[in-house]
Amino acid sequence: MSDKKFYITTPLYYVTAAPHLGSLYSTVLADVCARWQRLRGADVFLTTGTDEHGQKVAQAAQQATHQPQAFVDQFIPAYTSTWQQYEIAYNAFVRTTSMPHKMGAQEFVRRLIASGNTYRATYQGWYCTPCETFVGRGGSEQDAPIPCTSCNRMTSWVAEDTYFFKLSAYQEQLLSFYQNNPDFIAPKERLNEVISFVQEGLKDLSISRTTVQWGVSFPDQPEQVIYVWVEALCGYLTSVGFGQEERRDEFNYWWPADVQVMGKDIVKFHAIYWPAMLLAAGLPLPKRLLVHGWIKVDKQKMSKSLGNVVDPVPLGKQYGVDAVRYFLCRQLATNQDGEFSIEALEQHIASDLANDLGNLLNRVSVLAHMHNIFEITAPHQWSERSMRLRNEAWSVVQDAAMHMHDWAIHLAIARIWHLVNQANTYFHELEPWKLAKSDKDHFVQVLSATAHALYTISLLLWPIMPTKMAELFERLGTPISFGSSDFVDQLKSDNWRHTFLIKQGPALFEKPIKKEEQPVVQKEQSRMPTISIDEFLKTELLVGTIREASAVPHSDKLLKLIVDFGPYGTKQILAGVAKQYSSDLLMNKQALFVTNLQPRIMAGLESQGMMLMAKDEQGIARIMQSENVVPNGTRLQ
Ligand code: MSP
Repeated sequence: MSDKKFYITTPLYYVTAAPHLGSLYSTVLADVCARWQRLRGADVFLTTGTDEHGQKVAQAAQQATHQPQAFVDQFIPAYTSTWQQYEIAYNAFVRTTSMPHKMGAQEFVRRLIASGNTYRATYQGWYCTPCETFVGRGGSEQDAPIPCTSCNRMTSWVAEDTYFFKLSAYQEQLLSFYQNNPDFIAPKERLNEVISFVQEGLKDLSISRTTVQWGVSFPDQPEQVIYVWVEALCGYLTSVGFGQEERRDEFNYWWPADVQVMGKDIVKFHAIYWPAMLLAAGLPLPKRLLVHGWIKVDKQKMSKSLGNVVDPVPLGKQYGVDAVRYFLCRQLATNQDGEFSIEALEQHIASDLANDLGNLLNRVSVLAHMHNIFEITAPHQWSERSMRLRNEAWSVVQDAAMHMHDWAIHLAIARIWHLVNQANTYFHELEPWKLAKSDKDHFVQVLSATAHALYTISLLLWPIMPTKMAELFERLGTPISFGSSDFVDQLKSDNWRHTFLIKQGPALFEKPIKKEEQPVVQKEQSRMPTISIDEFLKTELLVGTIREASAVPHSDKLLKLIVDFGPYGTKQILAGVAKQYSSDLLMNKQALFVTNLQPRIMAGLESQGMMLMAKDEQGIARIMQSENVVPNGTRLQ
């Protein structure tokens, strides 16, 4: 084993659907960091996996009329095959429903209990199921639900007798940890947000649930399950052997994690709750968190609930997985949100990959072969101009390493591209096609210097585009093998003495062909005739909150809803949703309604409107909800 170990984790993804481009983004970033460390000679372990318990998953399974285990099982192949497609070189795929994980999570909670940092009390307050977060203790069930502080969606009331973790007792210890470890979070600005949050005062955290069954039993309390976030975070430990006696050495070797990657929406769990619980459990804290922003589509966070998710599978098939990996790392600065669009992706492929990089390789190989040069040897002495390119290459290696040290991958790429441009300028300026006729030695020198620059570039870019860069090594006749030596040290000492056995081949990157129709984001033609705006305005579409939902006698399809339209009062609306929604699932949900339809009688009851629904991929009608809570009676426009 190498003396440098590097343990990195991705978040464990909720399995309510196949992965989307947002999940891929966290995973690609972790893979790029892992590969970078491999290049630097470290012994690397990458954990990814799925977060399969909790209310959110249980509800999704119920809505799909599946048992939770069968429900989550069906999505696992989509994760593993997508990660395989995208060359994610993970060492462990932890499923939180696996036995070793469940045992490890229980062991972790036992340690919390043994540390004297837990107590039993009642949690009464609001809970956000999509985020699996306790939003605020206090209030009363009769109050109007408050929106989630993170996602702004409606919360639901929870009152249960649970176990609490004394998070508040760790406030000072956490603050001094942040102060002593200013690099704990990359990018730095996120650390300040965490510090202000902790300074405002920490409340104790409920760590068990009684009203949710789908989870890991709380130790010695079979009627309680461990709060899903506490249990899922343990996946970072259990994947490297925590809680398994026979893997004790392995665990001690890998833990603590060197980097944990996540989106900014889940930083609180990782930067506050997780370190505090690790302190209580007597375990070392992760060294660094890499927190990234959101991928947006048309300026909105890409998310399943907004229906604007991009499927990475056809995207990779159409544009090539390395190109998509490159785009995610280059276009999205880790410290900001970034916009995804097919146009930007195509433009980066055409200009950066096909023109700047692919063409340079092509020009070198075509020119060399045209003049029957297959083996390019380094000159005894480099010209001053070639030395400038060599120095430039070395300074780019150092700067890229510096940016990668901060995990500012986009800055590293920008710097690498400076070298790509410099190599193009060098080639263009020295006009080797003319030198081939007048000065053969100089001609070979230009080919050699350009090949050396390409070699440096391909090493630096290998973590981002592993397959394409392996192809580039192959074309240069310098396949690489990884050992325990650090490639930065190698580049420093190699002094440009390589011999290249240059090969011709197809274009490294194809320029995307402009198509009228985008197969990735498919648009269906509307089947309805067009109407004028005046005709549309005749329909009254209002937002309302379902205050009561009950079965309709003699109907297995209908539910009777009493809907609150704020200033427009309440209406009784019958909806054919009994098969997919239980009454309590609909309670206090906001939805969209047509409210000026002529009343009609259904199963002997009057319906004074219609709830808007849309069928999902499985053909099950789902209610349409607004992204944020808006006042009841708001008219859609
Ligand atoms: N299950 C929890 C994590 C538990 S870790 C012990 C969870 N899962 S998630 O599937 O909702 O999100 C996982 C990751 O995907 C998060 O890092 C989140 O930020 C990321 N993304 C989900 N949508 C995203 C975008 N639109 N853009 C970028 N990343 C986003 O949270």
